[in-house]
Amino acid sequence: MQRLLHFLSSLLFFGYVFGSSTDNATDLVDLVNLFIGTASGANGGSGGNAFPGAAVPHGMAKVGIDVSTAPRQAGYVSDNSTITGVSLMHDEGTGGNTNGGYGIFPLFPLTNCTFASCPVGISPRAALRAAGADAASPGYFTTTFVNDIKIEATSTRRAGLIRFTYPTTANHVAVNHVVVDLTNDLQRSFEGGEISVNASSARVTLEGTFLQSYGTDNYTIFACYDFLPPPHVTPQQALVASGTYQSNTSATPSDINISVNTTSLSYSGTTSPSPVQAGVLLSFNSSSVLARFGVSFISTDQACANAESEVPDWNWTAVQDASKAKWEDVLSRVTVDTQAENPTIVELLYSSLYRASLVPANLTAENPYWSSAYPFYDSFFCSWDTFRTVHPLLSLTSPREWSEIVNAYIDGWRNTGYLPECRANTKAGYVQGGSDGMPIVGDFAVKYGAYAADLGVLIEDLYQALVDTAENTPPNWYEVGRQNTAWKEFGYIPTNWTDPSGAVGLPTREVSRTLEYSLGDFAVRQAAKALNKSSADVALYGNRSMGFTNLWDPTVTSDGFSGFTQRRLANGTFAYSPPGACSPVDPVGHSCARGTDNDVGFYESSSWEYSFFAPHSMSTMVNLMGGNDTFISRVDNYFSTGYFYAGNEPSFMMPWAYTYANRPDLSALRVRQVVFENFNTGIGGIPGNDDSGAMAALLTFHLLGLYPVPASRQLLIGSPFVSGYTLSNNYFNTETKFTVVNFDNATLVSNPANGTNLYVTGITINGQQSESLCWIAFEDVVGGGEIVIELGSDAQAAATIGCGPGPNALPDSLENGGFASSRIHWLKVYPYNCIVNVHNHYTEHNHNTSIEQNLRIYMHAPSATPASTRAKPALKPR
Ligand SMILES: *[C@@H]1O[C@H](CO)[C@@H](O)[C@H](O)[C@H]1NC(C)=O
Ligand SMILES: *[C@@H]1O[C@H](CO)[C@@H](O)[C@H](O)[C@H]1NC(C)=O
Ligand SMILES: *[C@@H]1O[C@H](CO)[C@@H](O)[C@H](O)[C@H]1NC(C)=O
Ligand SMILES: *[C@@H]1O[C@H](CO)[C@@H](O)[C@H](O)[C@H]1NC(C)=O
Ligand SMILES: *[C@@H]1O[C@H](CO)[C@@H](O)[C@H](O)[C@H]1NC(C)=O
Ligand SMILES: *[C@@H]1O[C@H](CO)[C@@H](O)[C@H](O)[C@H]1NC(C)=O
Ligand SMILES: *[C@@H]1O[C@H](CO)[C@@H](O)[C@H](O)[C@H]1NC(C)=O
Ligand SMILES: *[C@@H]1O[C@H](CO)[C@@H](O)[C@H](O)[C@H]1NC(C)=O
Ligand SMILES: *[C@@H]1O[C@H](CO)[C@@H](O)[C@H](O)[C@H]1NC(C)=O
Ligand SMILES: *[C@@H]1O[C@H](CO)[C@@H](O)[C@H](O)[C@H]1NC(C)=O
Repeated sequence: MQRLLHFLSSLLFFGYVFGSSTDNATDLVDLVNLFIGTASGANGGSGGNAFPGAAVPHGMAKVGIDVSTAPRQAGYVSDNSTITGVSLMHDEGTGGNTNGGYGIFPLFPLTNCTFASCPVGISPRAALRAAGADAASPGYFTTTFVNDIKIEATSTRRAGLIRFTYPTTANHVAVNHVVVDLTNDLQRSFEGGEISVNASSARVTLEGTFLQSYGTDNYTIFACYDFLPPPHVTPQQALVASGTYQSNTSATPSDINISVNTTSLSYSGTTSPSPVQAGVLLSFNSSSVLARFGVSFISTDQACANAESEVPDWNWTAVQDASKAKWEDVLSRVTVDTQAENPTIVELLYSSLYRASLVPANLTAENPYWSSAYPFYDSFFCSWDTFRTVHPLLSLTSPREWSEIVNAYIDGWRNTGYLPECRANTKAGYVQGGSDGMPIVGDFAVKYGAYAADLGVLIEDLYQALVDTAENTPPNWYEVGRQNTAWKEFGYIPTNWTDPSGAVGLPTREVSRTLEYSLGDFAVRQAAKALNKSSADVALYGNRSMGFTNLWDPTVTSDGFSGFTQRRLANGTFAYSPPGACSPVDPVGHSCARGTDNDVGFYESSSWEYSFFAPHSMSTMVNLMGGNDTFISRVDNYFSTGYFYAGNEPSFMMPWAYTYANRPDLSALRVRQVVFENFNTGIGGIPGNDDSGAMAALLTFHLLGLYPVPASRQLLIGSPFVSGYTLSNNYFNTETKFTVVNFDNATLVSNPANGTNLYVTGITINGQQSESLCWIAFEDVVGGGEIVIELGSDAQAAATIGCGPGPNALPDSLENGGFASSRIHWLKVYPYNCIVNVHNHYTEHNHNTSIEQNLRIYMHAPSATPASTRAKPALKPR
């Protein structure tokens, strides 16, 4: 509440009032709590590493404050540590380097010092925040230091505004200062660059080379700060002194010399990070200082141009309103009755939808490596994390943004030969498992293949990108691609095998790589089906996708269960490791990290967990484990014994696993438990790293009672956490209303009581009985119309009904002939003739349009195709 009050008062200060006095409609942005998942991850805490600063959806600029203590992957931590600056770019929710990613070119406000004696260095300047001072809403962040200096930030895609308001008590001198820090990114990894200040224009330009946060490479970034606002901005801020500061030597970095009137500093490249402190100090005869910034990966000129074009008149309200409007648009693609539903669920839902659209970051026109007409996106950190939930969520509501992102994956292939995997800071990061861009672009092919041209995606290139990534082996498959040499020769990744091709990579994680390569090949198979490729291609990749069975060792037992995935040598002999190794209840230390200390063959998870991983052929797992009953007791044991690790991606599907054994009732119970035991609205409310929104998208799916099957048109369906919701799709222009009959708030607990209405007893899709109580087709979820989910309280009846009596009731499994192309029903499309573009910066929506036109609002205007030829799908007949 403190947070909200503070936040509201700051908005009132800028003359902005939410909502309208005539109704009680709540802006959805008001429901977002940006501080969920910002607890410190120190000492084994559940650091979500969420980023609570100012950003637009998929923004490149992510402005926020940075704490002095690690871990601080996103710069910010909800604790009482000191703040070292407000910096321009951040990651969202990532693991990786605990010092954090980006945090470039921080500003820092100083008062009560004389120019030459100001504490400009990173340590001496660090300041504590006043208790409870941090506040944020989509597009806005503020805090106040204990010395009463207030910090605020707002942003556009590549630019923004930062304001410092200094205390005006009599004790304070009239001159206040701002440090512009060249060298201290979050990792303190400065490898060279330069800064210059022009006192008459009050412009500071910066270039710096820093280390990427997940990988071995460096990146170069540029920024432009302007401190001379146009005359309408009050109070006017006269620049009264400027100069540079720098460490006297790199051996004595904290020994800093400030020189007035010097205008530039330059550091040539070094291969090891320099601790040197350097930057510009500016003094203003003003009680507040407004800074406009722009960032760029191209040049300082482009950084300045970005600031000029995106924040042309320094209008804070306009920038913040535009950001807020973009977020409102994103959030409004999932609507619930915010007054009637459980307030905690509502807060979790909109906070999750928010975090799920912070990245990937839109770096279009900022690609430093190749010129291309296609969009460029970054912060794919990593596809391993995001393919399960982030991209499938985009596929439901936001295909216009998603097609840009998919285009960026394909363009990565076009220019490097492989789909990017963990591109972050614009450089390839470490490959954790498979090339998990494959299930992402494969998913696009099966869901939007028929509309690819209209969405600007060259579908033949998409398919070739999949095939090349499935067939070719890059020189170093630790950066991109896969070890297809081994995969194609053995049908699994053998342990202790020396690759004769000379291709290199970290040869660890053999089991989990095999499982993910299997899914990757399934994605190619699915794309081949959807795009009418040859039956030979369909068969090749379909067969290869069953390679996961090659690592099934039926002789291994654990807790009375037989058969686990295990490492396997090239000669076929299995290499044993205990199935519980690397699980939360592993009694002995094992390593499941990337490196050569990995002694189990799994990445960040156990054989207990990974032995369920075949999302495209779960019936195979049911069979291998000994049938439905054993499978169910095995999933039960997995949860009750503690092998479940909520904090990481390999566990995501597990609460839904029962559905594959015809027991959706047990999934409904387990999803409730997993949500209420692991997620909440507190700063520790995410069980692990948010991982570029992966956790946020997962929670969104759980709350909606849906779970996506990768690279397929099926979603598992279950018991929602709300009495109804509507999904909007910004390409099809459809609204699909989900109505939950007999919804029972008493089920919103970790262990719903007997007799509460938890169980799905019927589903109709536009009035027609669904063929399954366990899965729903993508085309129905996005097709418009109404889905009615009926709930009942009879657990015994639900167990008996299972997924329903029909032949297609169980979710598809490849082994059973599932995922047939006859199941693909492309939505029918009709010509459509109006586009209203409401999301230009500072461009108010023209209300002088008909209701019919307003129904057809697009996220942004299409680039190539004339509006009159663009297609709109038909609403499904009732
Ligand atoms: C708004 O809320 C108030 C208090 O809950 C209620 O009295 C009023 O009728 C509501 N107004 C509308 C337009 O719903
Ligand atoms: C910060 O909080 C921790 C834990 O509550 C406490 O031990 C520590 O003294 C605090 N530090 C400061 C500077 O207030
Ligand atoms: C200003 O700095 C002086 C000396 O560093 C200190 O004694 C004084 O308390 C400071 N005043 C304020 C208002 O911070
Ligand atoms: C710095 O430049 C200003 C403006 O030209 C001048 O007034 C001032 O004397 C200079 N200061 C020093 C120390 O050279
Ligand atoms: C940055 O990395 C490149 C390799 O990508 C290397 O050639 C260069 O020396 C590095 N620059 C610095 C300043 O370390
Ligand atoms: C700033 O933008 C707001 C919102 O768009 C607008 O109402 C206001 O007139 C603008 N202020 C100036 C000085 O242009
Ligand atoms: C990404 O940036 C490009 C270039 O400005 C723009 O056309 C596009 O709409 C942006 N996409 C999103 C999702 O913001
Ligand atoms: C792999 O080879 C190393 C070195 O020869 C050996 O120590 C290790 O036991 C082997 N691993 C397996 C699973 O055979
Ligand atoms: C496979 O190789 C391992 C390690 O060299 C050896 O222990 C095992 O007996 C071999 N298995 C077969 C079937 O040759
Ligand atoms: C599991 O149950 C389903 C539904 O009753 C059935 O079709 C399937 O054959 C069963 N699987 C096994 C392995 O018994």
